[in-house]
Amino acid sequence: MELKKTVGYEAAKLVVDGDVVGLGTGSTTSYFIKRLGDRIKREEMEILGIPTSYQSFFLARDFGIPITTLEEHDINIAVDGADEVDLDLNLIKGGGAAHTMEKIVDEAAERFVVIVDESKIVDKLGGIPVPLEVIPQACRMVTSHVQKLNGVPSLRMAEPKDKVGPVITDNHNFIIDVEFETIGEPEYLEKKLNAIPGVVENGIFSGIADEVLVGTKDGINILNRKK
Ligand code: A5P
Repeated sequence: MELKKTVGYEAAKLVVDGDVVGLGTGSTTSYFIKRLGDRIKREEMEILGIPTSYQSFFLARDFGIPITTLEEHDINIAVDGADEVDLDLNLIKGGGAAHTMEKIVDEAAERFVVIVDESKIVDKLGGIPVPLEVIPQACRMVTSHVQKLNGVPSLRMAEPKDKVGPVITDNHNFIIDVEFETIGEPEYLEKKLNAIPGVVENGIFSGIADEVLVGTKDGINILNRKK
C-alpha cells in the first residue's frame, strides 16, 4: 500500500492548472485522486475530472474535484492503475470491473499515465486472467467463443456478503475472466476478443499508455513508450 501511495501522490504533481483530468479506478488511483483534491484546495487550481467508475466519481466528489463528462471536454491527462504491465507498456486492466469506461477515458487522453507498484511489471502479459465485460444474455455464447481461442473462462462472482450471484458492472453487465497462456501478441488478442458478439470491451490495453510510474522500494521508476 505504501508504494501505491507514493506513486499516486507523485502522479498528482503531473497535473497543471486548467487541466481536464481522467480519473482512473482502483486503490492506487484513489491516492492520486485524494492528492489532486488536496492540491486543488491548497493551490486554488481550476481542474475538472472525468471519472472512469462510480468509485472514482464518489472519491472525486468527496475530495472536492469538480466533475465533467467526455461530452463536454477533451482530456489533457488521464491517470489510472493496472493489474499487469509489460515492457512495451501493454496492460491488463479490469480487476475492479471498470475497464470499459477506463479504456474510453484513458484512450481519449492526450497523455495517459499508468501508476503501479513494482509487483505489476511482467515480461509478457498473461500471468492473470483477461477480464471481458459481457452483455448478460451473451454469456454462454461468449464462453464458447473464448474456448475456441484456447482461453479458460469463468464468470466473476460477487462476494456473497456483498451480493449473491455474478458481479454486475457499472454498465449493468457481467464479467468473464479468461485465462490464457502467455499472451504473445496483445494487440491481436485485444482485437480478437472485442470481435466476439456480446463482448462490450476487454481488459487488454495495447499501445495506449504513454508512460508508467512504477513505485519501487528504491523510489519511482519511469517507463516511457518506445516511439
Ligand atoms: C479497475 O477495473 C482496474 O483496471 C484497476 O485500475 C486495476 O485493477 C488496478 O487496481 P489497483 O490500483 O487497486 O491495484
